[in-house]
Amino acid sequence: MKNILTTKQFTKEEIEKILSRALLMESDLKEGRVEKLLSDKVIACIFFEPSTRTRLSFETAAIRLGANIISVENAEVSSSSFKGETIEDTARILSCYADAIVMRHNKPGAVEIAAGVSTKPIINAGDGANQHPSQALLDVYTIKKEHGRLDNLSVAFAGDLKNSRPLHSLIPILLFYPNNTFYFISPRELAIPEDLRKELKDKKIKFIETQNLEETLPKVNVLYMTRVQKERFKNIEDYEKVKDLYLLKKVHLELLKKEAIIMHALPRVNEIDHAIDNDKRACYFRQAENGLYVRMALLLYIFGL
Ligand code: NCD
Repeated sequence: MKNILTTKQFTKEEIEKILSRALLMESDLKEGRVEKLLSDKVIACIFFEPSTRTRLSFETAAIRLGANIISVENAEVSSSSFKGETIEDTARILSCYADAIVMRHNKPGAVEIAAGVSTKPIINAGDGANQHPSQALLDVYTIKKEHGRLDNLSVAFAGDLKNSRPLHSLIPILLFYPNNTFYFISPRELAIPEDLRKELKDKKIKFIETQNLEETLPKVNVLYMTRVQKERFKNIEDYEKVKDLYLLKKVHLELLKKEAIIMHALPRVNEIDHAIDNDKRACYFRQAENGLYVRMALLLYIFGL
């Protein structure tokens, strides 16, 4: 049984297989010839945290492949979790009804615990600040599509690097590819986790930690802006201090290379000025669209199809 819990579980070959499958899904969908390979399946989506893209693109992916869905949003208040049911019991029950479970939870590790008791495959749709593997896969799909490669890139992340599960999931994939350099732009309070810093040092990966967005912009091929994760802060004053530190504006575009791309997992709050949406380097809406193709590929992957 194949769960998708973390990007660290994949080999490079598996990732490339998923990316090729996603490419096929994209062309099949655009040409209106998607095979209904999941027509006998029920997919359960249960989200204990808010979501627009992840849940709805997984559900669309399932429907496009012919599956039916059962879906719980606001599960923290609308499922029996509100009455005190454990995540294990919820997972046991869902796995009696559905053929696969897509789950988002606010606690790091909760989806893995659910997978420990589920008799059906589980996809982690984000567990706290830990992992968001389907996001990372759609991110590499996007980088590959936009740049034609996943190596020899200078990739900058700006914002809340402590809590960004897209970042924590994307780096392990990019480490499969040679000569990538990373720039981590954040205030000290939101710097990358120590275990990631140690891993990069141990693997002798070139990375620079800085607080300066402007200085970094001219150096990169990929600029990945991240939302400051308000929901992860223990007190609101700490959030207020850092929430507006990095806003990409029109003036910044002159500093960016012509071939650079601007990414964001979305939702954006105050990280990217809407005035730059029409710049061809702004690829966050294309990135969100790619989520559908990648999630179709992931649903097929968990069923071994
Ligand atoms: C991200 C997430 O939930 O981690 N969003 C998403 O899935 N598209 C990023 C975020 O919420 O900031």
